[in-house]
Amino acid sequence: MTLVEKWMNTLRTRTVAFIAIILAVSVTAISCSSGGSTTATATPGISPDLVADYIHTVLEADRTAYTKHVVNRATMLEGKEKADGVVPVEATETWQQGEGIPLPAQMFRLGSEIANDKGYFTYNLISPWYINDSHAPKGEFEETAVETMIETGEPVKDYQEIAGQSYYSAMYPDKAVAEACVSCHNTHPIHLERYPDKLFVMDEVMGGVVINIPLEGA
Ligand code: HEC
Repeated sequence: MTLVEKWMNTLRTRTVAFIAIILAVSVTAISCSSGGSTTATATPGISPDLVADYIHTVLEADRTAYTKHVVNRATMLEGKEKADGVVPVEATETWQQGEGIPLPAQMFRLGSEIANDKGYFTYNLISPWYINDSHAPKGEFEETAVETMIETGEPVKDYQEIAGQSYYSAMYPDKAVAEACVSCHNTHPIHLERYPDKLFVMDEVMGGVVINIPLEGA
């Protein structure tokens, strides 16, 4: 073996040893930081505030994607022809009575009914000017938070207790981002009957998405 070869061998052995130490340290660090439990409430470092923001992001994304990529392709929306529609179907509140497909708010509620049944956490659309009775603000948190949210246009978050169980609750504003939101609600027969003086305008907060996360052991 030449001197250079010997030197190369030593270097290789040292490099391998060095990499092994680094790996051992990172494995230890990962196993220490992952804790033991798999429940979200028991994992240190994830605040319920952040969990609510994550859930809300997914809910909003799904609703927007459904509106953009399904409802917008229908040729009819609640009895009116849609110029950019390409699929011969109608998006309508009475979808179950005919051959229509659900409106985005109905799709949202249908999803929430399935998710809420699982018993992990609940979410719901609410509004003081609700068309569907299941969207009425309920309880002290919702009744107070909805007022603040409409006034400020910002999310409202707080702890609340219902029947001895503590929850972290968050309410996110649902704004009139398209002309269709305003025109459909303003001309809806139930809206006209219940809130004849309420005329929604663009960008107004029309209601909110409420998420309730139960807190373990609280
Ligand atoms: C074509 C009609 C139509 C359009 C467009 C529409 N909505 Fe609705 N919206 C409804 C109906 C009908 C309901 C009740 C659905 C149900 O039974 O769950 C509803 C429910 C809601 C609710 C819950 C309170 C309630 O009235 O029951 C909010 C908040 C809401 N819509 C906001 C919006 C926003 C924001 C947009 C635009 C991004 C929008 N809507 C677009 C018809 C419409």
